[in-house]
Amino acid sequence: MGDGAEPAVQARDVARAFGDVQAVAAASLEVRRGTVTALIGPNGCGKTTLMLMLAGLLRPDSGEIRVEGADPRTDAAAVRDAIGWMPDQLGTWDNVTCAQTLALVGRAYGLARAQARERAATLLDLVHLGEFADRPARVLSRGQKQRLSLARALVNDPAVVLLDEPANGLDPRSRVELRHLVRDLAAHGRAVLISSHVLSELDEMVDDAVFMSKGRTLGDEVAQEVARARARYRIGSMDDAALAADLRAARVEVDDRDGLVVSLSGEEEAAAALAWMIGQGHRIHRFAPAGSALEQTYMAMEEERR
Ligand SMILES: Nc1ncnc2c1ncn2[C@@H]1O[C@H](COP(=O)(O)OP(=O)(O)OP(=O)(O)O)[C@@H](O)[C@H]1O
Ligand SMILES: [Mg+2]
Repeated sequence: MGDGAEPAVQARDVARAFGDVQAVAAASLEVRRGTVTALIGPNGCGKTTLMLMLAGLLRPDSGEIRVEGADPRTDAAAVRDAIGWMPDQLGTWDNVTCAQTLALVGRAYGLARAQARERAATLLDLVHLGEFADRPARVLSRGQKQRLSLARALVNDPAVVLLDEPANGLDPRSRVELRHLVRDLAAHGRAVLISSHVLSELDEMVDDAVFMSKGRTLGDEVAQEVARARARYRIGSMDDAALAADLRAARVEVDDRDGLVVSLSGEEEAAAALAWMIGQGHRIHRFAPAGSALEQTYMAMEEERR
């Protein structure tokens, strides 16, 4: 791994066109070690194209990329060693088994035969595909293929993990497991970049979010919007009307069009507000963040750009 101060992934003003389609126009982002960063945006905004460039699999037309300090244009081998890439669709070789698939990837990364086999078995267990070890990968269900794809991205024990819509097709338990696995990767110091359209799930998983629209990453105004959305709390009490009146009298911003939602400055103020309401004799049965902050931000962003 590179020196701790630099982010593991840095991209500045990266652009890439396919013919006359400007897939990525100006993308800038950083992914820090030990954190999970979300890459969010509508279909066709350039997420996959950007990730392919970060993984060193597609050349940018312009801009700068550094992965663990290496430039994919001039040091592709270093980037390849540093990165684990999970594509949105896994290609499988016809009659190759799940265990062989992972072992072959391990061999390609320079592991000895026995090591590669061992690594394959460990990773199959990690994604709960142990019982499929000797079956051809092509017979796997869609969600099982996603899990194999995730295992494949981890074969080289990468410092940087890029996941393109990893939750696609996963059943509820597998989604929860994916979330834990992703958090675990970050806890072990990896830098994780993850794209997904299931924003409510990302909410619980990510430390940072980068929004993209029409090939451009959006800047600080969006980060502020996320923070604002995170500070909205939904309250349920046995008498909402009385509570709303008390809150307004205490100069708290209240929205009571659909239930009771208050805008607070963050967790500190939320804790204080809850104690205060109970102290005032209100009987509270619910107090929780008002929905997905990322989803609210996404909707606000889309609204503006329509
Ligand atoms: N190989 C290619 N050749 C031509 N156009 C491409 C190619 N790859 C991507 N594009 C175009 O570039 C744009 C960005 O595509 P990209 O796949 O990066 O979007 P995305 O944000 O990943 O979308 P989604 O959410 O649907 O996965 C789209 O307009 C797409 O049609
Ligand atoms: Mg995509």
